[in-house]
Amino acid sequence: METLVTNSIQKASSFIKKGEIAAFPTETVYGLGANAYDEKAVEKIFKAKGRPRDNPLIVHIANKKDIEVLAKEISAAAKKIIKKFFPGPVTVILKKNEIIPDLVTRGLNTIAVRMPSSKIASQFINACGVPIAAPSANLSGSPSPTSFIHVLEDFKGKIPCVLAGPATKYGLESTVVDCTGRIPKILRPGVLTLEELRKIDKRIKVQKKSALIKSPGQKYRHYSPKAIVKFQISDYRLKINTAYIGIHKPNKNVLSGLSRYKICRDLNDYAKNLFSFFRECDAKKIKTIYCQSVPEKGIGLAIMNRLKKATRY
Ligand code: TXA
Ligand code: MG
Repeated sequence: METLVTNSIQKASSFIKKGEIAAFPTETVYGLGANAYDEKAVEKIFKAKGRPRDNPLIVHIANKKDIEVLAKEISAAAKKIIKKFFPGPVTVILKKNEIIPDLVTRGLNTIAVRMPSSKIASQFINACGVPIAAPSANLSGSPSPTSFIHVLEDFKGKIPCVLAGPATKYGLESTVVDCTGRIPKILRPGVLTLEELRKIDKRIKVQKKSALIKSPGQKYRHYSPKAIVKFQISDYRLKINTAYIGIHKPNKNVLSGLSRYKICRDLNDYAKNLFSFFRECDAKKIKTIYCQSVPEKGIGLAIMNRLKKATRY
């Protein structure tokens, strides 16, 4: 299959309209989209990604009024989150309406809805004229794509179209918030921080690990480069083919033993560069990547969530 790489929103949306899939940029990571009402098209996403069959997809919209088409019994707390943070890097879990095929939500009675703030994403969804079901545009298990080049690394020749835009603004995925109960719960930490969400309701918490099964994607190994990912860094242990990413600059002895490294300006810069650094290391056949652990505050919570998943083998 030939993969068309285009910056034409019209061209990319024509693929969706004829029942095909297409990758597109958002402010978090690139998504691999299909018409959410078209089961055959949605099936192509699962096939291309090698995605586990029980892992549901997020449905992306460009207009708030579409929420009522997709979901019912929208709680007061959900309304507050939508009012304050849509469009933006957050996904809300709501009770679903029958209109969405089971293939998208994998038999759950809930639906994940997100309204991206990225202009290109929003124009693309509008041009498609339907809600877009989309996971991150990476092969299942590998780091999420933050540029269209990453999408091509995983899918060149395997999907018909990539809408090429700039590198993504944040570099990590959206925060997934379960809004089906009285008090919203974070199922997956992401770009929108717990601290920001607590401005809506102080009682908002991150779902405990044992209960994470609620968001099926959380139980799989994820976000991982081929290299082994570790937290500790010590100079005497460094061998060839090692890399480091973090905010703290290690001492000269350590630096000189590394094949490559990335010193980030701050937590946001760390979040933005993490997945692309993983991919860069894989391309250079790095064996071990040392990652600085950071306090689980602000965006640090999402960074540590991704790092812990990447270190788990
Ligand atoms: O930033 C993002 O969220 C990106 C961009 C493309 O929008 N998308 C993304 O999708 O990261 P994906 O499929 O890689 O992750 C979606 C997560 C998975 O962990 C999935 O299990 C969870 O959302 N999810 C989807 N529908 C759900 C539902 N009804 N209930 C609970 N969790 C759900
Ligand atoms: Mg993903």
